[in-house]
Amino acid sequence: MQRLGINIDHIATIRNARGEGHPNILKAASDVMKFGADSITIHLREDRRHIKDNDLINLSKVRKIPINLELANNAKIINLAIKCKPNFICIVPEKRNEITTEGGLNLKKNKRKIKKIIDLFNKNNIRTSLFINPNIEDIKLSKSVNSKCIEIHTGKFSRMVRENKNFKNELKKIKKCAQLANLLGLDVHAGHGLDYKSTRLLANIKEISEFNIGHFIIGESIFDGLKKVIKKFKKICK
Ligand code: PXP
Repeated sequence: MQRLGINIDHIATIRNARGEGHPNILKAASDVMKFGADSITIHLREDRRHIKDNDLINLSKVRKIPINLELANNAKIINLAIKCKPNFICIVPEKRNEITTEGGLNLKKNKRKIKKIIDLFNKNNIRTSLFINPNIEDIKLSKSVNSKCIEIHTGKFSRMVRENKNFKNELKKIKKCAQLANLLGLDVHAGHGLDYKSTRLLANIKEISEFNIGHFIIGESIFDGLKKVIKKFKKICK
């Protein structure tokens, strides 16, 4: 069965808006697991806009929660990751002013640097992955730098599905990449911008073994959770 990793960055975004402790990240992570997630994903960004160092440190102590840590090529973050030993890491590109991770890595340009990081995490028995755009060359490069997995950036595909555009070619491209990666022995993950419909379409690609989804799940939970919370308050009000 395809695994579901849930990105809880935006729970930290809400917490940070008040600068205090609610909603609590540890509780969020353990609830997410209790409700059926296979792992949680956190992205420790250079600007620390959502997840903070202490979130990673505290989550890492709960060894029964499998953590997928997204990180860019940043020495301090890499050192902290090696100390905290998350179960999995995924190297992502980072631009300071972007709203979210807008595209995959430029592997061709950064091959040597990325291989060094991958080798370091492989040596520490931490599962390695690279966030890449769906193209054949990047699949081959991912293999050549010893990554164990790839995560295909599905942002373009997801947007096309959402906007009712013709997504057939993009879907074909993702399928071809997933098949080649699988053939090369890479574990294939997919993520970014996914909602119910785009995930349902990609779930037909049997080579994809894991989805990592954040924004839609956290956003949609507001609608699925409002009823219960408001009812609780109506009972409290006199
Ligand atoms: N996978 C990776 C590597 C990401 O960087 C992100 C976004 O942080 C996601 C998955 C989740 O994307 P979304 O929040 O759009 O579901």
